[in-house]
Amino acid sequence: MAQSPIMNVMRGAVEKAGRALRRDFGEIENLQVSKKGPGDFVTNADLKAEKILFEELSEARPGYGFLLEEKGKIEGADKTHRWIIDPLDGTTNFMHGLPHFAISVALERDGTLVSGMIYNPITDEMFYGERGQGAYGPGGRLRVAGRQKLQDCVISSGMLLHDTKNGRIDSPISADNLVPLVGDFRTMGSAALDLAYVAAGRLDGYVEIGLSPWNMAAGIVLLREAGGLVSDEKNRNKSLLSGNVVAGNEAVHGALLSHLIK
Ligand code: IPD
Ligand code: CA
Repeated sequence: MAQSPIMNVMRGAVEKAGRALRRDFGEIENLQVSKKGPGDFVTNADLKAEKILFEELSEARPGYGFLLEEKGKIEGADKTHRWIIDPLDGTTNFMHGLPHFAISVALERDGTLVSGMIYNPITDEMFYGERGQGAYGPGGRLRVAGRQKLQDCVISSGMLLHDTKNGRIDSPISADNLVPLVGDFRTMGSAALDLAYVAAGRLDGYVEIGLSPWNMAAGIVLLREAGGLVSDEKNRNKSLLSGNVVAGNEAVHGALLSHLIK
């Protein structure tokens, strides 16, 4: 795919932040043995990656606003554009030396998600896409998997039993409901990579509650461009607001919605 100028800007920033995360991840093994664990070190790695993304993107596109996981909202002079960024999605994996985490960067224009990029700096896998232009990954164009029946599907999720962010235990989606219905179940610890993997056809579906916009914004762009459907648990296009995501091809998305919602 010919790279658009905005994709080149995103790639440059994401790869630079990825190099920093990769270096820091190399230190994690040494810190596991300490009693305190690598917590503070990971927080610093996260902040460092966010700072790189903020600086690189601000320089390339002055005036665009930001929604950053760590620093929060930064208003820009240009009110029509906003970056939505998770500098390290999969923090728990990173902290435990598990090489499954990603940088997630999305661009919103006039309130619509238009570009997304998700990068795992350890596997060096980049997933990216633009609204109306398709989504791409290591093997070329991304397409969601074609399986139709939940019992043939591998479905992923995070913590389904509790909505940790809102402290709810009466979540609309529960592992008790999900696990008996599906072929197999995964919980891998990075919402961004879960969405990228559904877009790439590696996973058949994904469902999670209580996410933050930065965990999912880029993944939503990729998934739609890969021919998938993504909504909240009430089938509304409001995942960014509600924090709840149900994703898959049309059949899987529909089946997940109908089986899982109480
Ligand atoms: C977390 C990951 C995880 C999901 C959590 C998120 P973080 O993001 O995406 O998969 O289950 O809800 O908070 O904290 O690593 O950026
Ligand atoms: Ca994060």
